Amino acid sequence: MKYWKKLPHRSLQTRIEKALKENVDFENDISLGYPASKLDNKVFYSDASFLKDAPTLQTYVANPNHIGCHTYGSSESAFKGTQEIEREVLRVLAVDFFKMEDEQFDGYIAPGGTEANIQAIWVFRNFYNHHFNAANDEIAIIASEDTHYSIPKASNLLNIDLHRVPVHFETREIDASALEKVVQEAVANGKKYFVVIANMGTTMFGSVDDPDVYTDLLEKMDLPYKLHIDGAYGGFVYPFSNLESKINFSNPKVSSITIDAHKMLQAPYGTGVYLSRKGLIENVITKEAEYVEGMDLTLCGSRSGANAIAVYMILFTYGPYGWYEKISVLLMRTNWFCKQLDEMKIPYYRNENMNIVTLDSSHVPRDIAEKFDLVPEQHNESNKWYKVVIMDHVEIDSLMQFINAVKERH
Ligand SMILES: Cc1ncc(COP(=O)(O)O)c(C=O)c1O
Repeated sequence: MKYWKKLPHRSLQTRIEKALKENVDFENDISLGYPASKLDNKVFYSDASFLKDAPTLQTYVANPNHIGCHTYGSSESAFKGTQEIEREVLRVLAVDFFKMEDEQFDGYIAPGGTEANIQAIWVFRNFYNHHFNAANDEIAIIASEDTHYSIPKASNLLNIDLHRVPVHFETREIDASALEKVVQEAVANGKKYFVVIANMGTTMFGSVDDPDVYTDLLEKMDLPYKLHIDGAYGGFVYPFSNLESKINFSNPKVSSITIDAHKMLQAPYGTGVYLSRKGLIENVITKEAEYVEGMDLTLCGSRSGANAIAVYMILFTYGPYGWYEKISVLLMRTNWFCKQLDEMKIPYYRNENMNIVTLDSSHVPRDIAEKFDLVPEQHNESNKWYKVVIMDHVEIDSLMQFINAVKERH
């Protein structure tokens, strides 16, 4: 690890207080031009005693706006202190998590995985528009049927077709021969440029796509493609549970990655991450954003700087070994749960490196699934699966209660 380490709370606090001092201070500085201020003083008191030791909450109250992208060109100077922390966070994620070379990345803390995925596809679509003079109807998104609904949303918004690839029912692996047919059909329908979404942890199964299945085929067919990894769910798990993983920027075919800090990292909602190689994000510059210093390269526009601080605090409180331990505990609990299911002969899907277990719904009485808040694949009679996500609060005690409830009915 080059940049990621564990730091004591005192150093983190000092670092963030210093960053906040480098930002405009709406309470004490004269600042006339921004349609913004600190959080409303009648509701969010800046002198509350607990704020003293809570740097993330201090940042919420100070209310920095991280509008724009701070890895590319210039940025709003009023918030330069906390923007620097956002850059530090992105550097840890790009270089230490996802094996990017130093300073070869762009990115930002997006409001969530949905935006980060849409941003990725927007960047690729415009890349093809600008560099190949491609029309939107010549561009196709290719993704598995288990892919998150943010991808059809992106297809709809960006006006480019999505071609879904079937997966094998039990292994959730991409069906390579079906993929070939999907691509052939797309080509027959005039598609010339491809945007591939490979999952590092699907929403319902936690299954991890092998990106080579896509890229080998597209290369064999001599078709241009860009590859995005949707690690919204698995981005904070898989790199630690599979240390040999090549699903990162060490693979030159990976152009961008989504990660969600508001899932496994337990950061507040509003904390997704978009990361890409240099040379791509400028395809979505909005030059009309002239009042924003450095203009805007993001989908969302204004966004809170406090989300970046929250990620910084979590990453540097744990450090790499602490995080590895946390993930290892979750995986041990998942192994324990799977062992119980095996003994009861309940069929399920689980990727061995992930902490999601997806049970065959025919073996789980519906009232028990509802009592334990299991999430179904579909909220209707055709539902075939229920998932259990082994998060921090999902301890063996709770899993045991679920197992006992199912056992009583077996
Ligand atoms: C794989 C995957 N991608 C994208 C998303 C979208 O993330 P968000 O809800 O943060 O927009 C999710 C959310 O569950 C997900 O599981």
